[in-house]
Amino acid sequence: MRVTIQQLKDMKERGERIAMLTAYDYTSAKLVEQADVPVILVGDSLGQVVLGHDSTIPVTMDDMIHHSRAVVRGTEKAHIVVDMPFMSYHAEWPAAVRNAGRLMKEGGVNSVKLEGGRDLTRTVQRMVKAGIPVMGHIGLTPQSVNQLSGYKVQGRSSEQAAELLADAVALEEAGAYAIVLELVPAPLAKLITEKLSIPTIGIGAGPYCDGQVQVFHDVMGLFEDFVPKHTRRYAKLGDEIRQAVWTYVADVKDGRFPTAAESYDLDDVLLSQLSDKK
Ligand code: KIV
Repeated sequence: MRVTIQQLKDMKERGERIAMLTAYDYTSAKLVEQADVPVILVGDSLGQVVLGHDSTIPVTMDDMIHHSRAVVRGTEKAHIVVDMPFMSYHAEWPAAVRNAGRLMKEGGVNSVKLEGGRDLTRTVQRMVKAGIPVMGHIGLTPQSVNQLSGYKVQGRSSEQAAELLADAVALEEAGAYAIVLELVPAPLAKLITEKLSIPTIGIGAGPYCDGQVQVFHDVMGLFEDFVPKHTRRYAKLGDEIRQAVWTYVADVKDGRFPTAAESYDLDDVLLSQLSDKK
């Protein structure tokens, strides 16, 4: 049985912090689960770190289903939550519910994540009623990068802060089981976390959230186009991979790879028969 939304709520209750990480493919998902990560996000950040787009806007439902399947195949215990891509839940709630249903049925995930606050409460209510667990996402919502004019910290004015608090409360009341707070000042994230009974998961939202989420490629040092201030690099896989590839190329060029140990043999008799045929 995979980690349930009730278990995540119980973790908040016990004061046990939740470590969430993204994964987008079978191999990395398997590694992440082996390190006991309870929640894996198939984030639409795959648009940038896997597909090379400059934002999450071009990511499609088919992209999210394709990557969700791979992550689900690589895991057994972790709760898998997937981002609903841009414009898959904004127009009308019936279409949003149908798209969330596709992600669960075809992608095999356990829940979906939506960016937005009070404007989405009806959509969240309908999804929850249909049996689809929903994680909210407020603060910096990357799918609105064009409206927000960049990736900036949100909720710094008293008006904005009050709006974020109202959004968080509305999402909890609508039935969301957890909320991501992205690029929110730490004291505001603390206030929201204390106000809610569901877990808050921060990214660039300071240390007081119930959990933290990071992008796999950022913490592993694989994505080098841009390093956000809130990221801590736990590995330098970019450097390691480059070095390994250099060594491989040099070994091939200089005849050091492959050796006999890395080759397959053929029976001597068969070989001499083949040679005689010439
Ligand atoms: O897509 C993503 O990786 C996300 C995280 C930044 C929370 O939504």
